[in-house]
Amino acid sequence: MVHTRTNFWHNLSVHKIDQLPPKVPFAGALITLAYLTGRPDLVSRRNRRFGKAVRAHVPGFGESVGVSDPTLVKQVFTAKPDVLHAGDSSPLKRTLGRNSIFALDEDLHLRERRLILPPFHGERMGTYTRIFEEETLAEMATWPVGEDFPTLEPMMRITLNAILRAVFGAEDDDFDDLRRIIPPLVKLGSMLTAAPFLQKDWGPRSPWMRFMALRDQYNDVIDHVVAKHRADEHLAERSDVLALLLQARYDDGTAMSREQISDELLTILVAGHETTAASLAWAVERLRRHPEVLDRLVEEAEHGGSQLREATIWEIQRTRPVIVATERHVVKDFELGEWTVPAGMHVIVDFLGLHTDAALFPEPDRFHPDRFLDAAPDTYSWVPFGGGVRRCAGAAFAKLEMDVVLRMLLTRCEIVPTSAKDERWRFRGVAFQPRKGGVLRARSIDLTPLDDLASEPQPESALAAT
Ligand code: HEM
Repeated sequence: MVHTRTNFWHNLSVHKIDQLPPKVPFAGALITLAYLTGRPDLVSRRNRRFGKAVRAHVPGFGESVGVSDPTLVKQVFTAKPDVLHAGDSSPLKRTLGRNSIFALDEDLHLRERRLILPPFHGERMGTYTRIFEEETLAEMATWPVGEDFPTLEPMMRITLNAILRAVFGAEDDDFDDLRRIIPPLVKLGSMLTAAPFLQKDWGPRSPWMRFMALRDQYNDVIDHVVAKHRADEHLAERSDVLALLLQARYDDGTAMSREQISDELLTILVAGHETTAASLAWAVERLRRHPEVLDRLVEEAEHGGSQLREATIWEIQRTRPVIVATERHVVKDFELGEWTVPAGMHVIVDFLGLHTDAALFPEPDRFHPDRFLDAAPDTYSWVPFGGGVRRCAGAAFAKLEMDVVLRMLLTRCEIVPTSAKDERWRFRGVAFQPRKGGVLRARSIDLTPLDDLASEPQPESALAAT
């Protein structure tokens, strides 16, 4: 049940306002400014002055409680699905479609999650390594040597091609159409998600109508691909995500409808490439500015190791989380620490607030992967993939992809360190990216074909689901 505005103010008056966490004045203006200027850390720093839980009016959501304390975060992530919703207030609902897992709650959400998790976990993961290696090598072949260039777009091409191959299996003509349609669809969709007031028909050239036209083109291609998959007499032997979704059955024995398949594939394609690409661009940005870590990583990779690389990816995601917060809508009064958050309000987990807390991560502003060498990150302090039943369904896929692409960079590109200033953050509607695109300069690039190499080592740990 979604609470109306009247219900909400009634509830808020029943639960005295002074029983809620302290209110941060002018929070809305600060959040807008912080996102526009690429300084999301300003919000967490200011909130910290008021406590580990704060009350604020958040643009796009309204009255909210923000939390940045592991005990409170655990309560949010482990709350019952009928107490906290994520789907009914998701800003992605209109752009990805009402059947997207992002738009669903409770039983419908869990039912969908059971269908889409298996292709991104377990043994199937091993089959993706080769895809990531091939796509990285193909992209590297286009990179200049001895010149600066931004890696964000190249990383986007690697991650888009990789997710297309994982989702649809063998490459064919439809891929070219999707490669043409998806990037502008994602760009417009991200902008429209951040600025929902633009989701209106203001003529064929308006952002929303251009988005809808692309969405129609996308639906046509998907219809074509689905028809081809259905006609494949070897469908049962295929291991691509679409083949699995076509064969999957809900508990009542029904199959996914065309609309469900279309919305869910778009969700996976969109969620599955921009975030990973932005994290990889940040990896380039961070490592060029930390040559001592870079040297150790190169040496480790050349000896087939992966422990420091894993710790480095965790540290990149701690210091440069591409998504900085996640939201839940309170649909039944929610006990949170010493407070009761009334139905109608929102709860926001502040990833950056946790990741920059000196009590959880000493010297939080220092880029120091060694902090994770002896201990893997804690589930409720390190949360770049969110948590609980809504935790990122592609976390293991993203982790493996980041590991493989980074290994290829370390072993095949001689990366030139830089003393340039840190790249600032830029918000693109859903994810934060390095403002200059994660600029790389390589002294040399080794393009030896994959098969000719003795081994492209595949570390065990990269398959772990962390
Ligand atoms: C570095 C890369 C990625 C980051 C940082 C990231 C981050 C996130 C976050 C923060 C959420 C929301 C979690 C919550 O509200 O608690 C999420 C959800 C999701 N992500 Fe990712 N993601 C990444 C890559 C991927 C990939 C590669 C895929 C697919 C292959 C994917 C698919 C999804 C899906 C389907 C959900 C919705 C889960 C649900 O509602 O049950 N993500 N992701």
